[in-house]
Amino acid sequence: MKKVTIQTLRRMKQAGERISMLTAYDATFARLFDGADIDVLLVGDSLGMTVQGHDSTLPVTMDQLVYHCQCVSRVVERAHVVGDMPFGSYQASADEAVKNAMRLIAEGGVGSVKLEGGADYAEVIRRIVRAGVPVMGHIGLTPQSVHKLGGYVVQGRSEEKAARILEDAKALEAAGCYCLVLEAIPAALAAEITAALTIPVIGIGAGVACDGQVLVCYDMLGMNPDFQPKFVKRFADLFTVIREATQSFKREVREGAFPGPQHSFTSTPDKPAQNKEGLALASSNQRPEAPAPDPEAAPAVQSVQANIVALPLQAARGASDRHGEEGTVKLYSVPGTMVE
Ligand code: KIV
Repeated sequence: MKKVTIQTLRRMKQAGERISMLTAYDATFARLFDGADIDVLLVGDSLGMTVQGHDSTLPVTMDQLVYHCQCVSRVVERAHVVGDMPFGSYQASADEAVKNAMRLIAEGGVGSVKLEGGADYAEVIRRIVRAGVPVMGHIGLTPQSVHKLGGYVVQGRSEEKAARILEDAKALEAAGCYCLVLEAIPAALAAEITAALTIPVIGIGAGVACDGQVLVCYDMLGMNPDFQPKFVKRFADLFTVIREATQSFKREVREGAFPGPQHSFTSTPDKPAQNKEGLALASSNQRPEAPAPDPEAAPAVQSVQANIVALPLQAARGASDRHGEEGTVKLYSVPGTMVE
């Protein structure tokens, strides 16, 4: 299996092949996404909201990021893994930024780092790249600057602000970024930036002209029915799937239907499965003590699968929009305030 590298991503842009990127914070999801050939996995500081339950990315620490990078990079075989630099890990000085970027590589096992900020961070980026660490830039809506921005607000709508974002993008390419994330900016501006840069540009709420797209994995999988911002498409309804499975588990526990004999042990190990001649089957999955498939489980699984297709998203309609037009919004599945 060929590992995705920063060179692969550059070649993909040149060949007009779009790049897929998702966040991942643990080994289970990382394995699933890597097995589905997602090109880039971002261990994002959005974990402050999705995993830790905060209402912003600001409380996430370097030690926590290193830990989650390890969980992901440990199991990934193909995808390029990016570690996010948390708030406070690169702003104070270039020396500290270099040290923290190196920690994500050396301890976290990732292949590159991402940091938020425009031309003001060109020198910091130059220093990190000079130390041998590839840097992905991130401009537009930069959640670590939520207080400065006055909320999670679409960026670059005025001519002057759009021109500033374009200049930031060029400055980050010149500083040595190998890739750039554009978050919550008008699609036309993202198209202009994507055409102006030779490095790949990945969008989130930045329209279809970018070289690739990234979403927070739990949002993409529809795990929170109250969170339906404009820029997120739900590709599944895991909220319903997980709720139904959980309710089935509870019901069967209460009724004493689970565990059945097939999930229970006896004082002597089960006999290995035998073929017609009475010889033990070496590769049988009916190993001693392995539970046999539960035929009664099939209908429950089918109803869960039907829900994936049915996608009952009505609950989400009317929910506010993080990068949208007005009102209170939720960022990465938790409440935040949007000021437009
Ligand atoms: O932290 C994160 O998940 C991100 C993506 C939304 C780009 O920065």
